[in-house]
Amino acid sequence: MFDFKIPADDKATMYRDLASALEGLVAGEPDAIANMANASGLIFETLPDVNWVGFYRNVDEELVLGPFQGRPACIRMTFDQGVCGAAAKTRQVQRVEDVHDFPGHIACDSASNSEIVVPLIRDGELLGVLDIDSPKHARFTEEDEAGVVKLGEILSRVL
Ligand code: SME
Repeated sequence: MFDFKIPADDKATMYRDLASALEGLVAGEPDAIANMANASGLIFETLPDVNWVGFYRNVDEELVLGPFQGRPACIRMTFDQGVCGAAAKTRQVQRVEDVHDFPGHIACDSASNSEIVVPLIRDGELLGVLDIDSPKHARFTEEDEAGVVKLGEILSRVL
């Protein structure tokens, strides 16, 4: 059993502990689905005020739903659709304070108001994206971005 209890009061410490827990969870495991499944569970359980955490995989230049925590979500997106598509197309982190202002945002859960999407890249290849949604407006700060990017770096090595 894994029982990670990571306090959320100090963000820097929380992301450091979260990264270290994630390193431990994926260590030595080559199966990408298992790693994405455990990562989504760990992140969903640890970050406060999130309602969806999961992955879209790059399958022949289309984003296809992977392991996640939260409500059932849209299954496929092109690189021209949604916040995830923008992250895939530009290979840049998308940190959106109000998803309702984002052209082409795809609402999978009407509770979502802000979102961060991190592209997962290894050796120049786009593997997919890590998508985290929140019901709070402007939930994700620059500090969250730095922390989630670090999680993405760990994941890119094991997907
Ligand atoms: N909101 C996303 C779609 C995926 S769901 O949030 C899980 C987007 O526009 O990329």
